[in-house]
Amino acid sequence: MKIAFFDTKPYDKPSFERYGRERGITFKFYETKLTEDTAALAKGCDGVCVFVNDTVNAPVIDRLLEEGVRLIALRCAGYNNVDLRYTKDKLPVFRVPAYSPYAVAEHAIAMLLTSIRRIHKAYIRTRDFNFSLNNFTGFDLHGKTVGVIGTGKIGCCFIDICKGFGMKVLAYDKYPKELPEVTYTDLDALLSQSDIISLHCPLTRETDHLIDDNAIRKMKAKAMIINTSRGALIDAEALLKAIKERRIGGACLDVYEEESEFFFEDFSGHIVADDTLARLISMPNVIVTSHQAFLTEEALDNIADTTVSNIADHLQKGTRENEVTLF
Ligand code: NAI
Repeated sequence: MKIAFFDTKPYDKPSFERYGRERGITFKFYETKLTEDTAALAKGCDGVCVFVNDTVNAPVIDRLLEEGVRLIALRCAGYNNVDLRYTKDKLPVFRVPAYSPYAVAEHAIAMLLTSIRRIHKAYIRTRDFNFSLNNFTGFDLHGKTVGVIGTGKIGCCFIDICKGFGMKVLAYDKYPKELPEVTYTDLDALLSQSDIISLHCPLTRETDHLIDDNAIRKMKAKAMIINTSRGALIDAEALLKAIKERRIGGACLDVYEEESEFFFEDFSGHIVADDTLARLISMPNVIVTSHQAFLTEEALDNIADTTVSNIADHLQKGTRENEVTLF
């Protein structure tokens, strides 16, 4: 079994090589992303293994089929970058539904604490032997209200952590469930009552720009927003405008609408052409990490294990566990 592995990073290889060896899969690692121009690299491969910013649209899918590809294995949970209407009845698409919800939930909290307790600024100050505390006043999480949008695997881990801090939890989900000490509300109530809002729902047509100018205007003036889900859940320009007009407390962003051009790559020393991203990063109350929330040893191991099983089980036994299908 031969698989073309796109958008390879050094941290991907060890676990995929190890699990691949065990199941008889050879990976051809390419640093380039999968696009219309690079799809031909999959020639002679049984499948492709792709990540969040690879393009899997109709022309790419047609090209992969021409090259003899028989499956698409996403090494992530989200699949908004795949045209599922087009793959239907042509190519099975597999994903890793859960690899470490803890990794993402813990990163969301890490960003929040970093921001509100100014840890990132204190680190730089003390390295310069500047022990002043001026402008470092934060606030307690205890007793604050957190609004969680999307109470799936990651949202629930995030809620558990928030409860540990003694926070009140409001939640909004298209499919609410019974959760102890969690009050489900409609979106407007969550937006207007929460001190901290964290996004944990998938990106769909319905949730695209869920947080737009209108939504931001409903939030408390000091509200913090955390997005570790998908960039386009937030209208980045509307967020920047709100930050500039001091209508919001701050933002912790692990994902960004137009991230595919920049995230995961080193642009230090370059002039970043995206003014919205550059301006957001320059704000004292905005923290940006580059889609890093998943990056723990445990998550990488689980991703490789499940992806390799998805590929091997399908190619050898025709099984379709973890296949992504349209509702
Ligand atoms: P999940 O499928 O377990 O939970 C998603 C929840 O969102 C479900 O409860 C669902 O009912 C809810 N939902 C669906 N449509 C909704 C809508 N229109 N409005 C409100 N709620 C809605 O997914 P999981 O594993 O918790 O992941 C959540 C998201 O986190 C993924 O879709 C992915 O985009 C993102 N993610 C980000 C990572 C990172 O490294 N930053 C890593 C892994 C996932």
